[in-house]
Amino acid sequence: MPPRFAKRITETSKKNFGMFAKALGREGDLIHLELGMPVEDTPRHIKDATIAALNAGHVHYSDLQGIPELRGAIAAKLKRDNGIDAEPGEIVVTNGLTQASFASFLAFLDPGDEVILLSPYYPQHIGKIELCGAVPVLAPLDAANGFSIDPALIAPRITDRTRMIVLVNPCNPTGRVYSRAELEGLAELAVAHDLMVVADEVYHQITFDGVPHVSIATLPGMRGRTLTLSAFTKAYAMDGWRLGWIHADASLVPGLMKITTSEVTHVNTFIQHGGVAALTGPEEVLARLVDEDRQRRDLVVSRMNQMPGVRCPAPEGTIYAWADITGTGLTSQEACDRLLDEAGVVLEAGSFYGPEGEGHVRVCFGSQTLERLDVAMDRMSRFFNAL
Ligand SMILES: Cc1ncc(COP(=O)(O)O)c(C=O)c1O
Repeated sequence: MPPRFAKRITETSKKNFGMFAKALGREGDLIHLELGMPVEDTPRHIKDATIAALNAGHVHYSDLQGIPELRGAIAAKLKRDNGIDAEPGEIVVTNGLTQASFASFLAFLDPGDEVILLSPYYPQHIGKIELCGAVPVLAPLDAANGFSIDPALIAPRITDRTRMIVLVNPCNPTGRVYSRAELEGLAELAVAHDLMVVADEVYHQITFDGVPHVSIATLPGMRGRTLTLSAFTKAYAMDGWRLGWIHADASLVPGLMKITTSEVTHVNTFIQHGGVAALTGPEEVLARLVDEDRQRRDLVVSRMNQMPGVRCPAPEGTIYAWADITGTGLTSQEACDRLLDEAGVVLEAGSFYGPEGEGHVRVCFGSQTLERLDVAMDRMSRFFNAL
C-alpha cells in the first residue's frame, strides 16, 4: 500500500493551473499571455548589491524576522509611499507574497472559520485557506459597475463564523485600483463585524494615469486588524527571487513568526540585500518599469477594443487587461481553448477566477515585449474577425 495522504491533501480542492497547464508541452510558436511573469530583467543595481552581499560573506543564518536593514527600508517605504505608520519591528520578511499569505492564513484561521474573497478572486488564495481547514466564501464584486466593491453585496455573506476578508488591491484579475470610498465601505464592514483584513498589495506600485493606491490599513479602525502584504515580485521584476513582506501590528508579529520560522527559518540572507537596494536605489528605475507596463497596456487595450465582440476597459493598475468577450458568443473557456489551438495565443479564462469572471478573459501584458504583444494582437484579431 502506498503511504496515505493527510486529509488536508485529499479533502481540499485539486489545484488547477488553468491555461498554463493546457499549454504545457504544446509544440509551436505560442505567445504566453496567461502568466503574470514580468518580461523585464531585474534592474542592474539590485543584482549588483546582491552579488556584493554574497561576495562579502552574507551567506549565513541571519535575523529570523528579516535583516534589520531591509525591515528598516520597508518600514520607511510604507511610511513614505503608503501612509502606513510602520516600524521595522512590525515587518516580517517572507519568500514572496505566497509565503506572506500562507503564513497569515495559518496564523489566524482555525478549521471551520470562514474567509470572504471578493470574486473574481486570485485563485492561489483559495488552496491556502483550505489547507488551514477554513472555508472560502465568495462575495461578488459589482460587475455592472466595473467590478467595484459594493458592501451591500458582501454583507449578506458575513456569518458568525466569518473571521477574515481577503482584499487584492490593485486587483488581479480585473485591474481595478479601489478608490478610498470603496475601501471605506469595506473597512466599515470589517470594523462592524470585527473581521481581520488580509490586504494583498503585490501590485501597489503598478498604477497608471495618476490613479492613487490607498492601503486599507490607513483607514480608521483598520491598522490593528489588517495584515498588509507585498513583494518585490512584480514592480521590480524579481519574481524568481522570492522576496516579500508582511506588515502587522507589533503584537501580531510573534504569532506570524511561529509560522515563518517553522516553514523556512528565514529568507535567504544575501537576497535581502538586493531588496534593500531596490527600495533605496534610484526611483527612476521603478518609474521606468511602470511606464513600460503602461505602454504595453495601451497597446493591448487599443488593439483589443478593435476586435469584434470584445470590450476592454483600460485597467487602472496591475499587468493585466480584463476584457469582456460576451459579444463574441463564446464562453471564456471556449475562447481561450480556441485561441490556444487556432491562434497560438495563451490567455486565461475569466471562469478560472470564479463564476463572476465568466464572459471575460485575462490578458497579461506585462509578460511580453511590445513587439510580441503586437504579434499576439494580430493573431487574436484574425481569430475574432473570422468567428
Ligand atoms: C494577487 C497576487 N498575489 C500573490 C502573487 C504571488 O506573488 P509572489 O510571486 O510574490 O509569491 C501573485 C502573482 O501572480 C498575485 O497576482
